[in-house]
Amino acid sequence: MKEWQRTLGCGEASLAQVGQEVVLNGWVHRVRDHGQLLFVELRDRTGRVQVVFDQGRFPELHREAREWRSEYVVAVRGEVVRRLPGTENPQLATGQVEIHPDAVKVFSASRPLPFELEQAGKVDEILRLRYRYLDLRRPELQENLRLRHQFTLAAREWFSRHGFYEVTTPLLTRSTPEGARDYLVPSRLEPGSFYALPQSPQLFKQLLMVAGLERYVQFAHCFRDEDLRADRQPDFVQIDLEMSFVTQEDILQTVESMMAETLEAVGRKVLRPFPRLTYREAMERFGSDKPDLRIPYEIQDVSALMVESEINVFRGALEKGGRVKALAIPGAASFSRKEMDQMEEEAKSMGAPGLAWVAWQGEGLKGPLARFFFREGAWTPLGESLKDQLGFKEGSLVLFAAGPWQEALELLGHFRLQLGHRLGHALAGDHLLWVLEFPLFSWDGEAGRWEAQHHPFTLFHPEDESLFAEGRLGEIRAQSYDLVWNGFELGSGSLRIYQREWQERVLEILGFTPEEAQRRFGFLLDAFQYGVPPHGGMALGLERILMLLVGAKSIRDVIAFPKSASGTDPLTGAPAPVDPQQLRELGLQILLPPQARRVQ
Ligand code: AMO
Repeated sequence: MKEWQRTLGCGEASLAQVGQEVVLNGWVHRVRDHGQLLFVELRDRTGRVQVVFDQGRFPELHREAREWRSEYVVAVRGEVVRRLPGTENPQLATGQVEIHPDAVKVFSASRPLPFELEQAGKVDEILRLRYRYLDLRRPELQENLRLRHQFTLAAREWFSRHGFYEVTTPLLTRSTPEGARDYLVPSRLEPGSFYALPQSPQLFKQLLMVAGLERYVQFAHCFRDEDLRADRQPDFVQIDLEMSFVTQEDILQTVESMMAETLEAVGRKVLRPFPRLTYREAMERFGSDKPDLRIPYEIQDVSALMVESEINVFRGALEKGGRVKALAIPGAASFSRKEMDQMEEEAKSMGAPGLAWVAWQGEGLKGPLARFFFREGAWTPLGESLKDQLGFKEGSLVLFAAGPWQEALELLGHFRLQLGHRLGHALAGDHLLWVLEFPLFSWDGEAGRWEAQHHPFTLFHPEDESLFAEGRLGEIRAQSYDLVWNGFELGSGSLRIYQREWQERVLEILGFTPEEAQRRFGFLLDAFQYGVPPHGGMALGLERILMLLVGAKSIRDVIAFPKSASGTDPLTGAPAPVDPQQLRELGLQILLPPQARRVQ
């Protein structure tokens, strides 16, 4: 091997080496046979370069290279030569030069690939995941992994410079309450007992604060058994941090600096300070707790206008304590009736009774509510007021939602996002922002109980302490915050409760009996008896950051070996049944036959 070891990366060949003898190692990317001349493009992780086999000069080498097929792994020794004028290839970074070989070696041959790398975008993803090691040969994916390395390295250095210790917390542990289902691991030594893989290192990092570490960070593997989406994986990595003796402001500043400086280290500049919105404001203006600020329209409250109107559905919603919200979307008045019907169906599937709208096209208004705003060729007083409040213009569509505050806003927030992207109205750029002051609790109507909006260890807002005694639990604000990038939640965090009595009280509100609280979180409650610093922190989804950084549509594109959209790994075949012997050792019995495997 030694004599065949590369002296130059394929993508590094340039005019600077002209006249030099080099050795290249790599994969045969493409072969073009022009009779006398055979052109082989050789690829390694640095890029590609053209090797020219001239039958006239080296008939032996030419004959040998004619046997090469795509993806053979070879070594080429030869001279770097400036290409003849007119034959340069501006598409290729090394297109000024080519290699004239004088010796070659094949390390290994390759069968024809199950899919062409250059056509990968059109190939079924399951097939690509089945042969992920081939898919990963594509320069785009290699670049994503390179950036992932650069980003994590820069982030680690940042944390180290700022006094954080990286601590590894266990993977075999107890359930951590982040709201998803756990992945369980059966214990052999204690049959019938299970470890849970951590949904996050939340409790361990709090214990590290009790232990006096003061500043902790971990690139932590987390596991959540939940329905998958384009921005979710069952196992993923969090940049998880916790700090003692800090205010919320300290944490926001720390994370903001880390993000801005780390992104800059990999070549992306973002504007600071990140804007801040309260949860209420984000919902009121954008109908979302992770608003995409690239879309330039905002929701308005038109309840005051509608309270006196003749529109019964709106008056009815207001009488029941709801709100009427409106969103004007420029350039959407021309949607067809069919498109509007489809949107209405979509609204219904989200639980709304319907979708009210008016569209101003040409001379007049259309839509089921049009006559309330525009009648006999003229605007009604209600129509005039609507125009004034919304800045409603010719060509715009106005969507209305009436009902409970959150539902009405979420419905319009959904269409704001959908139509903003569909109509190409999203502005360019990176919009990072903070959303603050989430509610501490949210009411789960189906289960009939309070849930922690973030998690049960989150500290309430000091101004809202009296609301506990008044039973106004839904109004209590948390000292919690999310970081949002172009409509994606990058991370969440909070200050933590650090007094045992308060922690017990919150767990009780969430429906844990004292015995259950002790059983599940006793180790934390116990620790809270031995001197606890005020503390707080945050976790950022590493893959979400990278997905936005590289502009990928799916989180899978920034993970070397991701799970498919249905949670399986087509490469290894996981999840898979296990041997009966293994089950016996664990004291387990399978009651259901393994489900018919999804088609892979
Ligand atoms: P949270 O549950 O909000 O908070 O998670 C923090 C961040 O982790 C990322 N994330 C995911 N990424 C990919 N796939 C998933 N399935 C997935 N689930 C979550 C998101 C999310 O914003 N312990 C708290 C943090 C804290 O309070 O310090 C926690 O885990 O980017």
